Parts: sequence; C-alpha cells; structure tokens
Amino acid sequence: MNRIERDKRAILNTYKRLPIVIDRAEGHELIDENGVRYLDFFSGIAVNNLGHDPEVVKAIHEQVDRYLHLSNYFASEPAVELAELLVDNSFASKVFFTNSGAESVEAAIKMVRKWGKANGKMTMLSANGAFHGRTMGALGLTAKPNYQEPFMPLLFGIAHFEMNDIDSIRERVNADTAAVFLEMIQGEGGVRPIDQVFMDEIIRLREEFGFLLVIDEIQTGLGRTGTLFAYEQYGIVPDLVCTAKALGGGLPLGGLLVSEALTGVWVPGNHGTTFGGNPVASAAGIALVTKLLEDGFLDDVNRKSRRIVSGLEELNAEFPGVIREIRGFGMMIGVDVGEAAPELQQAFMKRHCLVNTTSGTVLRLIPALNIGDEEIDRFLNTFKEILKERA
Ligand SMILES: Cc1ncc(COP(=O)(O)O)c(C=O)c1O
Repeated sequence: MNRIERDKRAILNTYKRLPIVIDRAEGHELIDENGVRYLDFFSGIAVNNLGHDPEVVKAIHEQVDRYLHLSNYFASEPAVELAELLVDNSFASKVFFTNSGAESVEAAIKMVRKWGKANGKMTMLSANGAFHGRTMGALGLTAKPNYQEPFMPLLFGIAHFEMNDIDSIRERVNADTAAVFLEMIQGEGGVRPIDQVFMDEIIRLREEFGFLLVIDEIQTGLGRTGTLFAYEQYGIVPDLVCTAKALGGGLPLGGLLVSEALTGVWVPGNHGTTFGGNPVASAAGIALVTKLLEDGFLDDVNRKSRRIVSGLEELNAEFPGVIREIRGFGMMIGVDVGEAAPELQQAFMKRHCLVNTTSGTVLRLIPALNIGDEEIDRFLNTFKEILKERA
C-alpha cells in the first residue's frame, strides 16, 4: 500500500488530500517521494511564515536538549520570552497561551462570557462567512451554514451580521452585545478584507455600547499582512486578539492577547491547558517573531506583495476574463477566478507549484513571508504559461 492508501485506511476521512506524497521540505519548496520540487504557496495554510527555516529548526533543537515540557506549575523561559515579545510589540498587556486557533477563540469566548456576565451583556456577534474554528463554541461564531448545520444546536447567544454592511451591524448591536468577533481579512471566507469605514463604525458603536472587540488574527497575524498584526493597519486598539497558526514556527501554539483592562477578568482556576505555551513550540515562536521584528523585514514583505499584485494585474491585462478580482494585502492575496479555481489549482500542481483555493472560487496566495523575488517570478511565469495555454 502506498502512503495515500494507508492514510485512507487508518485516518478518519475529514480532509481533502492532494495526490502528492511529500518526503521533505527545504526553504520554500516541498519535495515529493520522487524528488520533484514544488514551489510552496500554501505555507501549511499560513503556518510556515518563514517557510522551512533553519533558524527556527535550530531554536527547536536547542530547546529539545534543555527540556520538552514542564507543566503549568513552572514558568518556562521560552514561554515567558515569547509573551514578552508579543506584549512589547502589540496593544496587549498579557498573553494566555493555547495550542491552536480554535482554542484561542474558545479562550476569548470564555473571557467575553465572564466579563459579559459581570456587565449584563450576553450576546456575541460575528460576520456571515467568518471562520473562527470548529470546536463547539468557536463553531457558533463560524457563520457558515454547511459547517454549522450538522452540529446544531450550538452555543446560545450568538448572532451574525453582514461584513462591510454598516446597516447590518447597526441593527445587531445593542446594550446586550458583549463582543464583536472579527477577522481583518476573512481567510476561509475568500480573502475578503474589512473596509476601513466599516471598521470605523464598529469602533464608534463600541464607544456607544461598550462591547469588547475581539480580533481573530489566527491567519492574518504574525507578519502575514505586512504588519505584525493586521489590526495595526486600521488604526484601532482591540480588546482581545486571537493568534495561532504561525505562532509556533510550525509547531502547535496559539495565544489570546489581552488588553490591560481585561487582565483581571480571570482568576486562577478559570481557565487552563496542559500544553499551552509548550517550551519547544515557544522557542520556535521566539525565532519567528524575532525575525519578523528585524529592521526592514516587514517592509520587504510589503514590497514583495506589490510585486505579486502588479504581476497579477499585468497578467489580467494580457489575458482578460479569467481574474475577476485581486483582494487582500501583504502576503495574503486572493485571486478570484470564479469556477476556474479548481482547474487552475490542478494546472499549477502539474507545473510543480502548490496554490491553495478557498471559497470555491478564489486562489489563496499565502507564500512564506521571506519568499524570494525569483520565486515570485517563478509563480507568475507559471500562471502566465497556464493562462497562455487556456487562451
Ligand atoms: C481566522 C481563523 N480562525 C480560526 C481558525 C482555527 O484555527 P485551528 O485550525 O488552529 O483551530 C482558523 C484556521 O484556519 C482561521 O483561519
């Protein structure tokens, strides 16, 4: 039996697998069992923000030799240092570490619920099309009927608004609103950024009604959009931020970033997790965040983002009628190609370039943040070849 057959036999069938067997990874390439090198524009779905990076791997090796795990009875050096990096470079005053995105959202839900009960506010709002994870609490916020319906009933007290629709959010918000959950760019929802005017209205409503603003930066955070967190580009100060995915440099790690005003909401015993802030994952996270904060690193992400977008615009001018819209910012770029998305994904794969699709119609380009100009050009040239062949 080959690996794909063994996978089918022994692992529960909940994922769509691609028909490639990966043997190892180097830099920004995945190498299959036959030695074929694929340019990776998946980045493990926004996890490998530095690709397969030797400095992250070295940090992991060094920590493995010190200790793997201590338990929450001890302050571990890597977790403390990573928390310091996060609080010193964000709105947050403290961090609660988790193991995944959904767990960071669950932590936010619990904090909102406790704060809301003390303040007579019970309702949580999220945007239609939002993706906040698949655990029973987070799923209530993941406003996608096909994900929710088989598991109803979900957490009570959750309602949804239309993203970027000011009337819709005004209709939903009232004195009972405890929190608004928001992705700055809907990732699974098709790489759809929040409009600045919509964000400004949410901030105005927060002042009027006094709810908490919870930003889900699980996909948009950690340099992905050209700033450490995407909320920075909207000139806002959140109350809570959920992070995960890239945080552990490829190992499972998440976090809830907490504003000063909320640091007293939980008391010991209110929440906990065995592995959250695991020392090895935190050591990898330190290597990642240190790199992101290096002088000029994020400027270069923005420069390379412009290179990709202008290349796509040129292709659109040369081969009109395929690309319907280019959305997103930083290294989170969605190319809406309508029904052609699956066929284009296949065509990229045939040419040894791995591109993710989302929402059925969108090519989601989420390369590593340190991708090189030549690799960007390799992707653009591949796209050009594909479009030429289809023309
Ligand atoms: C915005 C957002 N929130 C939450 C999640 C859930 O994260 P995890 O799969 O680590 O539970 C994801 C995962 O794709 C995400 O993109």
